[in-house]
Amino acid sequence: MPRLRPLARAMLSVCACVVAGWVAASDRAQGSAARANPAATASPAAATRPAAQSEPWWRHAVIYEIYPRSFQDSNGDGVGDLNGIAQRLDYLESLGVDAIWIAPFYPSPQVDFGYDISDYRAVDPQYGTLADFDRLVAAAGRHHIRVLLDMVLNHTSDQHPWFREAARSRDSPRHDFYVWNDGRSDAAGKHLPPNNWVSLFGGSAWEFVPAVGQFYYHMFYRQQPDLNWRNPKVEEAMFAAMRFWLDIGVAGFRLDAITTLFEDEKLRDEPALGGVNAQGDPRLSDVYTNNLPEVHGVIRRLRAMSDTYAGERVLIGETYVPNTADLDPWYGGALHNELQLPMDTLVGLGSKLDAGTFRQRLIELQTQVHDSPPLLVFDNHDNIRSWDRYGDGVHNAAIARIVATLLLTSGGAALLYQGEEIGQTTATPTRIEDVRDPIGITGWPREKGRDGERTPMQWDASSAQAGFSTNPRTWLPVTANYRSINVQSESADPDSLLNWHRRLIALRQSNAALRSGWTVMLDSTNSSVLSYARVGAEGETIVVALNMSAQPQTISLGLGASGVAGSRLTTLLASPAPIAGGAADRAITLAPFAAWVASLR
Ligand code: NOJ
Repeated sequence: MPRLRPLARAMLSVCACVVAGWVAASDRAQGSAARANPAATASPAAATRPAAQSEPWWRHAVIYEIYPRSFQDSNGDGVGDLNGIAQRLDYLESLGVDAIWIAPFYPSPQVDFGYDISDYRAVDPQYGTLADFDRLVAAAGRHHIRVLLDMVLNHTSDQHPWFREAARSRDSPRHDFYVWNDGRSDAAGKHLPPNNWVSLFGGSAWEFVPAVGQFYYHMFYRQQPDLNWRNPKVEEAMFAAMRFWLDIGVAGFRLDAITTLFEDEKLRDEPALGGVNAQGDPRLSDVYTNNLPEVHGVIRRLRAMSDTYAGERVLIGETYVPNTADLDPWYGGALHNELQLPMDTLVGLGSKLDAGTFRQRLIELQTQVHDSPPLLVFDNHDNIRSWDRYGDGVHNAAIARIVATLLLTSGGAALLYQGEEIGQTTATPTRIEDVRDPIGITGWPREKGRDGERTPMQWDASSAQAGFSTNPRTWLPVTANYRSINVQSESADPDSLLNWHRRLIALRQSNAALRSGWTVMLDSTNSSVLSYARVGAEGETIVVALNMSAQPQTISLGLGASGVAGSRLTTLLASPAPIAGGAADRAITLAPFAAWVASLR
């Protein structure tokens, strides 16, 4: 049964109200006009909209997320590492990705598997050395692949020297690097937190430190104290850390938890929403801890700094927002002066593959974000894989091709998470004693943690470690289906999901309409089939049709009515069965969960 992880639901639940509060009135008007007229993109004028002449690489990039613990182990310790990534660059080049985003590999106590950083300018020995990283960046360049880092600005590890110093004395120069409060006391003199804020990972968001007689705030684990972004020295120090990596040559950053940098200065209680969450805490709004307007000043300054570097560096944001229009401010609206690519994490659309929902989303992305490119994301290391979210247990392989086709043909940039391209499955632990992710231990059995989507990459069937490691004790077990689901066997099978991804990426690279064309919805009242045309600047056109139902569907594209010119279709890609090209105005029958990509002349 596909399910949405409770953590992701929590991140998505409550942010809309704050964003709506400060989006400029003109932006709101534009968003609501587009919502009122969803056919806006189907006009002939829209169909001939020219694409920009010279566009930065990230606008249409395929970015591949690497969770380094689980990608490739080069030294047999059961944990992936940087040299392991270097060993797999041929594979990544053959897939056709433009960039890799590597989840944190900095020194860390690994409470949150690297998202608790204790040194922002080094490599954790279990992943390698700075020299290994330099070699990786150089080798990736030779494979035409850029390297993006994960930058955690919201919090550090409690073992970071700044926090250790901050927690020693109120007079420490670093004390104000973090968010402290005296709290309250009850009649018996017991220290109580200043308000009702709960950590996203469970329990109070406040932790008392006897040495200073104060509480510090932590949005995530108590070992991840939040930085105090109201202190200009924090910005200075974190920007300096980012410069360190930009100077080495990274192509940019994925900014972790970027929406939560600021908290309400008055520390007001969050309004209760009723009920409890997966960790057993009261469900609260996040109006005072997420999406505070002050964050945008930081991002604008960060963008200005990043833009001083040559080579089109990019800022990507972890931006779980409830509505498409809520992404607009993260781009900087009409000014385009904040993040280049706030993530459109489609996990928020739930687990139903629904043509109407995706059609609406694509229209919104084209009309509500001031022509900024979307970065579509189906999978990452925090959420149940799309294979399991959308799969019905019968047609999963066909459904995965639909997801890939939507991701790679609908315009903008695309994010692939390691293993998504071969159909790796979510292997959620079945016993609490096997769980490694702390939220899976504290939340068991309602929240089983994120281990399921972090299992090792399945490279081949040569050993029980699937080519990931030579060590029989890998940090998370290799999923048993590695014998059939692995890179090597799928490379050899022309009909595999891996080769489907390869063909889609190659097509996108060679076809200007797919890469940077304008999207025109076709047959737009069809509730089972999502069809659209991608129209390039010279009028060259690609048609995509995705049957999101378990029944065969006969469709009529209605190209003329949508203002798309062309009379003959030639099939470029079809799954599961071949689909004949021919006259564009004829009825076309699509098998259950068919994906079809055709060129139109
Ligand atoms: C989002 C990251 O993707 C997740 O893995 C991490 O636990 C939290 N941010 C906290 O850094």
